[in-house]
Amino acid sequence: MKRMRVGILTGGGDCAGLNAAIKWVVYAAINREVQTKYNTRIQVVAIKEGWEGILMLDPKKGLKDERYVQPLTDFMVRKIDRDGGTAIGTSRTNPFNVKGKDGKNHDESATVVRNMKALDLDALIAVGGEDTLGVANKLYLKYQIPVVGIPKTIDLDLPGTEYSLGFDSAVNNIKMLINHARTVAGSHRKTAVIEVMGRHSGFLAMTGGMVTSAHFILIPEYPFELDLLLRLIGDRQKLKSRYTLLVAAEGATEVGAKVVARKSETDAFGHIHLGGIGEVLADQLKERTGLDTFAEKLGYLQRGGEPSAFDVKMGHYFGVTAVDLLLRKEYGRMVAVQGGHITTAPLSVLSNPVRVVDVDLMYDKARLNARRDTALEWCVL
Ligand code: F6P
Repeated sequence: MKRMRVGILTGGGDCAGLNAAIKWVVYAAINREVQTKYNTRIQVVAIKEGWEGILMLDPKKGLKDERYVQPLTDFMVRKIDRDGGTAIGTSRTNPFNVKGKDGKNHDESATVVRNMKALDLDALIAVGGEDTLGVANKLYLKYQIPVVGIPKTIDLDLPGTEYSLGFDSAVNNIKMLINHARTVAGSHRKTAVIEVMGRHSGFLAMTGGMVTSAHFILIPEYPFELDLLLRLIGDRQKLKSRYTLLVAAEGATEVGAKVVARKSETDAFGHIHLGGIGEVLADQLKERTGLDTFAEKLGYLQRGGEPSAFDVKMGHYFGVTAVDLLLRKEYGRMVAVQGGHITTAPLSVLSNPVRVVDVDLMYDKARLNARRDTALEWCVL
């Protein structure tokens, strides 16, 4: 029987469902039917801390460098799918853009190839979003590294797939947290501005807002007119509503305004840290209406915690399919969902524009909310 050693890494922001994918990669690799079908026995090795692990490990220690490498057994991964986050660590390291001791940024991607050889790895499974999988694609194109991808991001904005791990769990967290804010807002007659993640895409805000019947949903895809929002809130006051719930994606902006950012510096992938639109809006609304407002930025609370049943299931599907892709030697591809079915897509799709909410189809621009008249045509997973 042939032998194959496969590295697996998780990169970018953590989310729920990653551990299920890791577990099912290992379980598929040791599955007797899989081994017989492909006449191959796979050993799975965790590369810890995302791309940082494979860049930083000591090649002389190879598999013994426990800071960054860990061969995985079924016993070790048996229970990890019960928890959120990633059991093998993550980072936002970009091998094509590493800050050196000289303070300058360098392309260190050749080190990935060298260290894969040192670890005797035949292939890699990268679990990540546009950045991590984008690196996988560049490594595949530049060095023909045998690599396959598993999509994850709570933002649900990856091109080429209708689902990415973490979204459903994050929506469940958002639902719970908004409902917590609701009791306070209702009891104290307040206006709650809830800020959720979503830098370019408003899927989290739309779904989180819909499942909590939020009164207003602001998304990056549709810059809002403050005057319209004030008028709509005024209408609620006339109806003597006790409270108002407004959900805003971190990337939402007022017409003509810039996105609100936490810090101005960018990460290794060139992203600024967004955040703060909730506070800004809550202050503006207080000033312009006299209402008692408060802002809650859900931040990491929406990414953390236990995975939903759906994310565990999708982690299973994605994990076993990634192993299948490797054994069929379909390198340079990622697992994907299209039309509600598990399928695959080339990693190169990640250079396409991110998926966004179809505003004309899904959004009620007059009420600043999801459409309520019909779900035909736009109702997705
Ligand atoms: O990439 C997913 C995401 O959830 C974005 O919506 C958000 O801007 C980002 O993570 C924030 O994560 P971090 O603070 O870890 O950079």
